[in-house]
Amino acid sequence: MNVEKINLFSEFKIKNIVLKNRVVLPPMVRFSLIGEDGYVTPGLIEWYGEIAKNGVGMIILEASCVAKDGKLRNNQIGIWDDSFIDGLSKIAEVCKKYKTPTLIQIHHAGYKEEISNVSEMKLDSILDEFIEAFIRAKKCGFDGVEIHGAHTYLISQLHSKLWNTRTDKYGDRLYFTRELIRRTKHLFNDNFILGIRIGGNEPKLEDGIYIAKELEKMGIDLIHVSSGVPDPEYKQDCKIELPEDFLFDWVVYLGVEIKKHVKVPIIGVRAIKTENDASFLIENNMLDLVAVGRGMISRPHWISWAKKKYRFRINTKEKLK
Ligand SMILES: Cc1cc2nc3c(=O)[nH]c(=O)nc-3n(C[C@H](O)[C@H](O)[C@H](O)COP(=O)(O)O)c2cc1C
Repeated sequence: MNVEKINLFSEFKIKNIVLKNRVVLPPMVRFSLIGEDGYVTPGLIEWYGEIAKNGVGMIILEASCVAKDGKLRNNQIGIWDDSFIDGLSKIAEVCKKYKTPTLIQIHHAGYKEEISNVSEMKLDSILDEFIEAFIRAKKCGFDGVEIHGAHTYLISQLHSKLWNTRTDKYGDRLYFTRELIRRTKHLFNDNFILGIRIGGNEPKLEDGIYIAKELEKMGIDLIHVSSGVPDPEYKQDCKIELPEDFLFDWVVYLGVEIKKHVKVPIIGVRAIKTENDASFLIENNMLDLVAVGRGMISRPHWISWAKKKYRFRINTKEKLK
């Protein structure tokens, strides 16, 4: 039997959607390319077009906000009104032109430590806003959505054992996410992906594993593991116990560990910059997909650069034999 070995440039399929390779552009707000009104600008379309043209496996469009009062910063793209559909559709279109599957990240900044003091009615209405945003995302022609459930924003606040001390229905830390998925199930089919970015530490890795397993039961298609509400005990950048022999960033570790507990494809992220590191994580089946963020900003042609490095490395190996 001829089993082809997986590498960074092997295709990957999620439902009916084919990714050319295992590299993902993670969501990154391009503050300088957006105005305070939240509309897509020509500069933003050009940026995503360039990334798509260079052959990345999948793009996850930056955090788009479900409500005007839920932004993380003034200049962030919006999806709280139908008037955003036109601009966002242009990004979906340019990515399609280059056959690059594209999800849009759906976000609300939330209330940080104050999440437990927000009224139940307000959270009910934000849940409705998320649902409306999903409907708009589909109208725009994206290949799916990524729920922003990480980085101490609204859904991470609700998932967090540290910050969510509510006693109403939202005190069930996964209630919001479960309801959102249940009430939007009809939108998702083989051509429309439901992804989520989670904090793999909420605040511990075991909480991230629990969240991922529950999401799998809810029928999620893709889990992108990043960081959550940190344990204040850890004063350094690293917010968990990291085995000394782990070669990569602690956030990558969260993804690698969570992958061991679920069958849903896992995207890992943070400080993956070189072809060598990205290839190692994929070839050893530590992750299904790798996200390259800042590396892609500083080198929009990261994919062609990595392909060159890869070919060089393989050729070198052969010559050494
Ligand atoms: C300028 C900038 C904007 C970002 N915006 C978002 C965002 O909109 N949503 C999100 O989930 N993460 C956001 N992030 C985090 C990135 O998606 C990524 O997780 C982080 O940069 C680590 O990966 P890297 O080391 O490959 O850059 C942002 C990061 C940067 C540098």
